[in-house]
Amino acid sequence: MSIIRTAETVSRLRCIACGATPDSAGQDFRCTACGDLLEFFFPGWPPDSPAFDPAALKSLWLDRRTSREALDQSGVWRFRELLPCIPNPEEHVITLREGNTPLYRLPRCARAVGVENLRAKHQGMNPTASFKDTGMTVAASSAHQGGFRWVACASTGNTSASMAAYAARGNMHSLVLIPDGQISWGKLSQSLDYGALTCQLGTDFDGCVRILNELVRQKPVYLLNSVNPYRIEGQKTAAIELMEQLAWEPPDHIIVPGGNLGNSSAIGKALLEMRELKLISRLPKLSIIQAHDANPFYRSVREFGGKKLEPMTADTLATAIRIGNPASWKKALRVLQATGGEVEEVTEVEIAAAKAEIGADGIGCEPASAVTLAGLKKLRRSGFVKAGERVVLILTGHLLKDPDFTIKFHRGDLFAGTPDAAETVQTKHLQRAPIVLDADLGAVIAALDAAERNS
Ligand code: F0G
Repeated sequence: MSIIRTAETVSRLRCIACGATPDSAGQDFRCTACGDLLEFFFPGWPPDSPAFDPAALKSLWLDRRTSREALDQSGVWRFRELLPCIPNPEEHVITLREGNTPLYRLPRCARAVGVENLRAKHQGMNPTASFKDTGMTVAASSAHQGGFRWVACASTGNTSASMAAYAARGNMHSLVLIPDGQISWGKLSQSLDYGALTCQLGTDFDGCVRILNELVRQKPVYLLNSVNPYRIEGQKTAAIELMEQLAWEPPDHIIVPGGNLGNSSAIGKALLEMRELKLISRLPKLSIIQAHDANPFYRSVREFGGKKLEPMTADTLATAIRIGNPASWKKALRVLQATGGEVEEVTEVEIAAAKAEIGADGIGCEPASAVTLAGLKKLRRSGFVKAGERVVLILTGHLLKDPDFTIKFHRGDLFAGTPDAAETVQTKHLQRAPIVLDADLGAVIAALDAAERNS
């Protein structure tokens, strides 16, 4: 079937700033001419050729859902025509059947926000419980294909959990650099169990990145942060799968959290490519939400018109996005502008409230994912999102990634002794602390009756 000219997609690397097209990337995945980031492009794509049939490509992808092949069962490799090719996939592709994540309606949240049609694409339903797996399967496979013994990343916890799992599956060693005391126990426990060499450094995420960048210049380790363009390619598939779930009828808005800005870049790249290939006919607006004290991209866009980004020391309880110097900000800016999306920032209390509201819809997510709902509320108030528009939130991580945050919130301890404590009055109605009772039937019945009266 001549869907795309060759069965193996032909991909090339290109620098996002100077346009250089190197044959291969160095250890740090930066352009040797100007130092900026590299991206994949596909010179062989023939969207205007009569032989190219978008409908045939869509039905090929759908047919693969009934296949017994590991590659087809992966929600990433099922879309391999839009990914760089890994030669000898049977030998080199490492897959945990990632992707294949559900798209849920959020009826209560929709009512609270005042939009009719609100859904969540739950990327926390991936094998290691975050969206990182979709990019990791591609990048870890590329490391395997390159014959690397060691892979490494700096992380706020989810990349490291994912990398450690995929490295273990591919018989590679993994080195994790995480900021000491600033990642959740759930995520740390994953990288330990999957066998990573886990180093807690006395710095923040941005400090870990600096050390790792030096390390890869001196040691033959393969860098698995999202500056690695294979990661971005894999993460594109969340958007492709989403469009398939919506019968290729794009929503009006997609809302994502912004940390290092790899994920927004990937989803935006997929949207642009799908439109180029006539898989979709119009672009959703892609909006990016940051935490108020970890908002360098928001400030770059709002204060400097995207002309520069001023790194900052980041601080937020949504530790996954506690990032002050995001590597992929120029890629994210490009897709923000190309899709006509917006940037927003949200407070700590707004994040905590939004997380509990998503939980109350029976879905749940980690704090960083909840910035999407908090951001949507602001975008609704500003009129950027209209009541009748279709909105999809990308939930990036699972509720159980950070149970500490959740328990403290419901017990009312999350902001105790902080300047945010006063603001939490607004979140009281969302708190559902456990009730300690005597082991007595009467006491339980009294609690049930009281709850019924208050419901
Ligand atoms: N949500 C979660 C749950 C994350 O773990 C991250 C990033 C983001 C959102 C932001 O995505 O960086 O692509 O803009 N976590 C990284 C990590 C940095 O190391 O796990 P981004």
